[in-house]
Amino acid sequence: MVSSLSRRELLSVAAASFAVGPASAFAADALAAAAARVGVAYGSAAVYPFLARDAGYRRALLRECAMLVCENANKMDAVLPRPDLVTYEGADATLALAAAGGMRMRGHTLVWHEAIPDWVRPRIAGPGAESFLRQWIRSAAGRYRGRFEAWDVVNEIVAPEEGRADGLRRSPWLAALGPRYIDLAFAILDEVDPSAAGVWNENDCEQAAPWMDARRSLVLQTLEGLKRRGVPIRRFGMQAHLYSTFPLDQEKLRAFLREIAGMGLAIEITELDVDDRAFPADIAARDRGVADLGRRFLDVVLDEPAVLNVVTWNLTDRGTWLNASPIRRRPDGLPQRALPLDDAFRPKPLREAMKRAFEGAPDHSKARAALRKT
Ligand code: XIL
Repeated sequence: MVSSLSRRELLSVAAASFAVGPASAFAADALAAAAARVGVAYGSAAVYPFLARDAGYRRALLRECAMLVCENANKMDAVLPRPDLVTYEGADATLALAAAGGMRMRGHTLVWHEAIPDWVRPRIAGPGAESFLRQWIRSAAGRYRGRFEAWDVVNEIVAPEEGRADGLRRSPWLAALGPRYIDLAFAILDEVDPSAAGVWNENDCEQAAPWMDARRSLVLQTLEGLKRRGVPIRRFGMQAHLYSTFPLDQEKLRAFLREIAGMGLAIEITELDVDDRAFPADIAARDRGVADLGRRFLDVVLDEPAVLNVVTWNLTDRGTWLNASPIRRRPDGLPQRALPLDDAFRPKPLREAMKRAFEGAPDHSKARAALRKT
């Protein structure tokens, strides 16, 4: 994907994004502006190479966001597509856009059971796993030292349904190095870029279902272990791919976030979107359902002062990953309407609901100042 852009196209991306200039920071009525008023950073995943090709998309990101994260470009399969190629084209172009708009960047993701290129699998199945991990983090995070405020060091590491007593996912990293791969990855990031907060990013902890209750307990127990062992973890990332098919229990969510904050950790909402499968095909009704679920979620999240950032998994419905996900796409085949802007970058009710949630939130500035140093 990354290598499909011509050199000329790449140069034009860099030129276009730099040309925008620092004066183009988010608009006065942007989502980022409403968030900033209560000390929260709002941002979005950015899709490369779409951002290279579409000036309207770049403008929308610059207009609404105070933070960007690469949807895929920092992942191992994007950076190391072949044994003879290391490419940061996508991540560099995204960072150039962020720099042009005065936006922060977060890194996603260093250690995941997905996005491992086939040629890497044998390398991490053998005795070379630890040195490969070191090399990878040195390269991936070292390149952006001092430029990324946080890194998702480990992503989606618990899977209680897989039956291990500790609830950890049976990933290639776990198979090679045992559970210590987690501690190790945080320690390596801390050596490579101590200014970047180490984040454990996890999915399916937001809503009310017995299996999600179990995941929340497991996350808390695992976080306690990390803290007890002195692992340099500074934040918990809650992905927040919300499901229209499950209820939201605000009190359970609130208690979960409180417990994490009580451990001295900051929290980020890292991949917010609302899968609208269970909502009607009618666009107005669907958009209301999406906005309402997003609002009920954010009202609780933003009550928690330890929450520093709210990042949606893209800004526009155009190209949302939900349409490609076999479990999430709509049975009627209609494209999902999961995000603040529609596919023509027009604001939707979710955007308004998010703005209202930011406007009604308590001020996070004090907690932010304290937590950003930890
Ligand atoms: C997804 C991307 O959105 C897709 O484009 C890609 O094909 C697969 O990965 N949780 C994560 C993200 O942590 O990295 C995933 O992103 C979505 C689920």
